[in-house]
Amino acid sequence: MTELVDTLLTSEPHVAAAFIQRGEIVGFPTETVYGLAADIFSQEAIRKVFLAKGRPADNPLIAHVASSGQIDQLVTDIPVHAKVLIDSFFPGPLTLVMRKRAEVPLIASGGLDTIGVRMPGLALARTFIAACGVPLVAPSANLSGSPSPTTWQAVVADLSGRIACILQGPPAQIGLESTVVDCTGDEPVILRAGGVTLEQLRAVCPDTRRLEHPADARPRSPGLKYRHYAPRAKVMIVSHGAEPEPGVASAWIGLHRPASRTWHPEQQCADVADYAHELFGFFRACDAAGAQVICCEAVAETGLGVALMDRITRAARG
Ligand code: TXA
Ligand code: MG
Repeated sequence: MTELVDTLLTSEPHVAAAFIQRGEIVGFPTETVYGLAADIFSQEAIRKVFLAKGRPADNPLIAHVASSGQIDQLVTDIPVHAKVLIDSFFPGPLTLVMRKRAEVPLIASGGLDTIGVRMPGLALARTFIAACGVPLVAPSANLSGSPSPTTWQAVVADLSGRIACILQGPPAQIGLESTVVDCTGDEPVILRAGGVTLEQLRAVCPDTRRLEHPADARPRSPGLKYRHYAPRAKVMIVSHGAEPEPGVASAWIGLHRPASRTWHPEQQCADVADYAHELFGFFRACDAAGAQVICCEAVAETGLGVALMDRITRAARG
């Protein structure tokens, strides 16, 4: 059990950065989901991140940078295909796994000799990182196992009293985490689907591929083996047109609302991007409303639909 601390809420990046410089940890906004930041070179601060989240220690963290100069502080070299991806998608919802420098502590990389690096698309996030003066490790700012937070209010709900400060920003524009791409081999391999799609990656690196057997991900992306993104309610995947079984206190989210019954809560999304944007907040709203079953309408697994179905499927596995 962590000791309770006062959690300062601020919208001023320099105020939040001062906490990082004192070795504290800070919840902060990005365009994907809110993160929980620590100085990457402070093992003490990183330990606080694992403790506050209740996160397993072998699950590596992503390093967040504000500039390309900070990338060079973290990795031994930038492979050619990584350079292409950096030029095309940084800043943005993409994490590139590369060989780490010895200066990056093993606690940051979960014991691996690689480190995931990302430059957030949200300008406020980059201002905050730049003010800290060091790259920041940051997992999503939720308690381990619960849905990633897409608003500062969700960070308060999970981590108030457990972290020193929360930098308040806008709701996450994308709502799903970054795409994680392994750049240590001959071609880029997607370890986790996310905000940048396979189609977008292939447009600039045609040999990009998805991980063939997700079980292979065990050593390569240890986070994939843990329970993720799940609300307390049971999640059921339903196809468009199929009538879900009547259940007690059922909620529904998707693109085409079945009119046959009422749902509490319910959310009809305009398109796949809107669905991605709303999903994690909806899971939290369902738990608050005491829903026991959440029906999630399946979408086609192309574009952002791949990441969306990945998160829904994991939540359904619970
Ligand atoms: O959008 C995001 O990526 C958010 C925001 C805060 O930036 N962060 C995030 O972090 O989702 P987290 O810790 O919840 O998820 C990190 C994922 C895990 O699946 C982890 O296993 C994988 O990235 N990962 C991190 N470093 C890795 C590495 N060196 N090799 C393989 N996988 C890695
Ligand atoms: Mg997470």
